[in-house]
Amino acid sequence: MAHNATSCASKWGENIIVLPATAQLQALLTLIRDERTGRGDFVFYSDRIIRLLVEEGLNHLPVVPETVKTPTGVQFEGVGFEGRICGVSIMRAGEAMEAGLRDCCRSVRIGKILIQRDEETAQPKLFYAKLPDDIAQRYCLLLDPMLATGGSCLKAIEVLLEQGVQEERILFLNLIASPEGIKNVQAKFPKLKVITAWVDAGLDAKQYITPGLGDFGDRYFL
Ligand code: PRP
Ligand code: URA
Repeated sequence: MAHNATSCASKWGENIIVLPATAQLQALLTLIRDERTGRGDFVFYSDRIIRLLVEEGLNHLPVVPETVKTPTGVQFEGVGFEGRICGVSIMRAGEAMEAGLRDCCRSVRIGKILIQRDEETAQPKLFYAKLPDDIAQRYCLLLDPMLATGGSCLKAIEVLLEQGVQEERILFLNLIASPEGIKNVQAKFPKLKVITAWVDAGLDAKQYITPGLGDFGDRYFL
């Protein structure tokens, strides 16, 4: 089994992977943070970041040696994918990441978990979950662009574990995280892998990520 991730563990620990802060990534994040950015551009530039996250997430899945013969008649000693995967989006904002996953993994199965934060208390509430029957045998790419207090992510992971998914087989793909959210998920699920594009300064009084980008779901879908 080989691991060949392009990014390595961050200062947050070996299972918290932060994308390299390239000029491109910083420019993309600047565009989606800008309050003047309209929906069309918000979707376009978020999708570019989502693609980077999906590619990086896939890099953390195991591969096994595989040899093929090329049309030149020569053997090539490469690798092949090992194990099956599925996506699980935390609705609604996580659904924005489904297309990026499908672009990379043709006909991937995608489960859904509807969790909404209470607007007043910021506490997450679970409404609904529909997941592949054989999810316990799969690696799960859990999709949610915003990790604020971590409450929604924690609840979604509890649902996956109840279905028999192994903690070390869950990869949480996320655009912007707060330090508080990272610490909360790491404390409860140390084997979970988090792949995020950026870690922001913190949370504001409304438990929104600051500087953040506001409400991701509203800006992407409404
Ligand atoms: C947002 C976001 C996360 C959650 C993050 O969803 O997409 O799911 O809040 O906050 P937390 O880490 O403090 O739980 P929200 O519940 O606002 O619903 P939405 O997806 O419909 O925007
Ligand atoms: N949900 C969002 O969309 N943004 C935040 O900053 C926090 C929760």
